[in-house]
Amino acid sequence: MERTFVMIKPDGVGRGLVGECLRRYENRGLKLIALKMQQLSSEQAERHYGEHKGKSFYEELVAFITSGPTVQLVLEGKDAIAQVRKMHGATNCLDAAVGTIRGDLGLSNQKNLVHASDGPETAQREIALYFTEDEIVSYELPVASWLQ
Ligand code: CMP
Repeated sequence: MERTFVMIKPDGVGRGLVGECLRRYENRGLKLIALKMQQLSSEQAERHYGEHKGKSFYEELVAFITSGPTVQLVLEGKDAIAQVRKMHGATNCLDAAVGTIRGDLGLSNQKNLVHASDGPETAQREIALYFTEDEIVSYELPVASWLQ
């Protein structure tokens, strides 16, 4: 079982799409093992998106991600990182396939509703940015044997 980090961005919260995103992850068979809501500080945003520093959209990205509340999740499941990235679709919503969160609901490159880790090391780093180990809950889903 693999863990991944997801953030529902200010446009997702502001448009009332938190429940829609959670419904899709749960329906896919991913297990929600941590969840919180917070408005990010500039320092948190810079820590999160440090790899994009220097890119043309970096300042705008930090301004956008700190502009309103966000929701942080840790999801667990078989191939969770790849599953969630598939569910999110291409970064630019205009290129995202219909049936993905961004393809169905998103608007642009920046207002793309959701962020997810792109690999195991990123997942570990991003989970640790937002959650302590004791905020991550360990439990068995009754349907677990169907999700392997
Ligand atoms: P995310 O998965 O959160 O990771 C980095 C974010 O930068 C990405 O989603 C986009 O929202 C944003 N991004 C990437 N490219 C651009 C761009 N050309 N213009 C604006 N935002 C971008």
